[in-house]
Amino acid sequence: MACRRKPVPHTPVWFMRQAGRSLPEYLRVREGVPMLEACARPDMIVEITMQPVRRYSIDAAIFFSDIVVPLKAVGVDVDLKPGVGPVIADPIRDVSGVDAIRELTPDDVPYVTEAVQGLVGELGSTPLIGFAGAPFTLAAYLIEGGPSKNHDHTKAMMYGEPELWNRLMERLTDLTIAYLKVQVEAGASAIQLFDSWVGAVAPQDYRDSVLPHTGRIFREIEALGVPRIHFGVGTGELLGLMGEAGADVVGVDWRVPLDEAVRRVPPGKALQGNLDPAVLFAPWETVRGRAKDVIDRGRTAEGHIFNLGHGVLPSTNPDVLARLADYVHEASANYA
Ligand code: CP3
Repeated sequence: MACRRKPVPHTPVWFMRQAGRSLPEYLRVREGVPMLEACARPDMIVEITMQPVRRYSIDAAIFFSDIVVPLKAVGVDVDLKPGVGPVIADPIRDVSGVDAIRELTPDDVPYVTEAVQGLVGELGSTPLIGFAGAPFTLAAYLIEGGPSKNHDHTKAMMYGEPELWNRLMERLTDLTIAYLKVQVEAGASAIQLFDSWVGAVAPQDYRDSVLPHTGRIFREIEALGVPRIHFGVGTGELLGLMGEAGADVVGVDWRVPLDEAVRRVPPGKALQGNLDPAVLFAPWETVRGRAKDVIDRGRTAEGHIFNLGHGVLPSTNPDVLARLADYVHEASANYA
């Protein structure tokens, strides 16, 4: 409802990376199972997706997976190295690398369909958010070969070989659309596109080299009729353009206060965010004060979904997240 800018009894809340490393029950289930194997097992996906829903009074579940899952499903040799992130065996730097990324069909990811269907049954009225990595963020990993600070090779291709860049972005756009469709057709009730590293580009480059592709994703997903959320980190200068790309909800990291984000994002959008995940390491009084500030500023938006400004940090105390979810409901209901 908040995604659609309709009145809600309280501000809805969920947490990026709510399923995962900060939960002891997650660590128990994952023991001895590599991350990408867990992402291909419906029983594990269902269990890990449900864990935070059982613990916290959150208003949505996020599908347990990773942005590299569709890449692996179409044959990219990728691994998730603990403490590092995605590592690509053969970084993509030429047209043969680009053309090796083939189209994705539902048969490439049967475990996703099965897990989404199982989750929709277990979750009842709690919505399931499906997700995908956005083409820029996927391209950044594929071209660099792993995590990168300056994205040297990525930008070298974007600036120096625009045809190759667009060919890669088009392939990743097709892949992302197909992958999001699998999730929605299996029953996901909203989707989030993670463009985590797009904050590395300047607005004009976003407009020229990224927006045509993210825009196509949101246009094609619109026909499926579910709310679409668009999130990136360090995107203060891009918020307006990210709104133009066409999502219903723009995710904001902790660097831009939500009332300022309201001024930057075009009208007709809800906002999601944006408590600094590191605030959760402070005493409760501080967490509560900062959360209240986010709720108050969020009230200036046409719709607000409370979240952190990026994912839950691994050493976060789950009890603080539980208290925060309760607090967001209580404090925002006082306004209703
Ligand atoms: O949000 C959720 O709870 C759903 C699950 C989810 C994961 N990754 C699980 C995961 C989601 C939505 C993602 C998205 C993702 N993956 C993004 C975009 C969101 C963001 O945080 O910006 C990115 C950039 C990745 C790539 C990635 N995968 C990184 C950087 C890492 C961390 C590497 C490390 O160990 O420090 C991963 C691995 C990963 N993805 C883990 C989890 C729970 C940890 C793996 C483990 O527990 O062994």
